[in-house]
Amino acid sequence: MPILATDTDHRLRKQALRLKREVVRMATAAGARTVTSKVHEDNAPMLALNRKLGATVERQDPYDSPPNPYLVCTIALV
Ligand SMILES: CC(C)(COP(=O)(O)OP(=O)(O)OC[C@H]1O[C@@H](n2cnc3c(N)ncnc32)[C@H](O)[C@@H]1OP(=O)(O)O)[C@@H](O)C(=O)NCCC(=O)NCCS
Repeated sequence: MPILATDTDHRLRKQALRLKREVVRMATAAGARTVTSKVHEDNAPMLALNRKLGATVERQDPYDSPPNPYLVCTIALV
């Protein structure tokens, strides 16, 4: 699974946002209905980025024991 990362010297300049917007654009053009990603529950920057793109964020299986720390971010495409 690919990992989106911005070099530490270049963070907070909207580079990851631009890249993920491009992923959304390409997925829409290809006819996809959703773009999903798994993000660790402690990864506030990536969760915020996904929410900024309109993603819903939820635990994959709330009944897992112990709880799975990865949350599923789903961007619905129109
Ligand atoms: C997550 C990551 C890719 C963001 O890269 P970036 O280029 O710095 O992010 P951007 O400048 O495009 O930020 C876009 C939005 O993401 C959110 N965000 C980014 N960094 C944030 C931070 N440190 N704290 C809170 N929100 C943050 C904000 O909503 C931001 O929008 P805003 O600037 O208008 O508030 C970067 O922090 C990173 O490489 N992290 C380590 C690798 C990683 O965890 N990848 C994801 C694995 S699932």
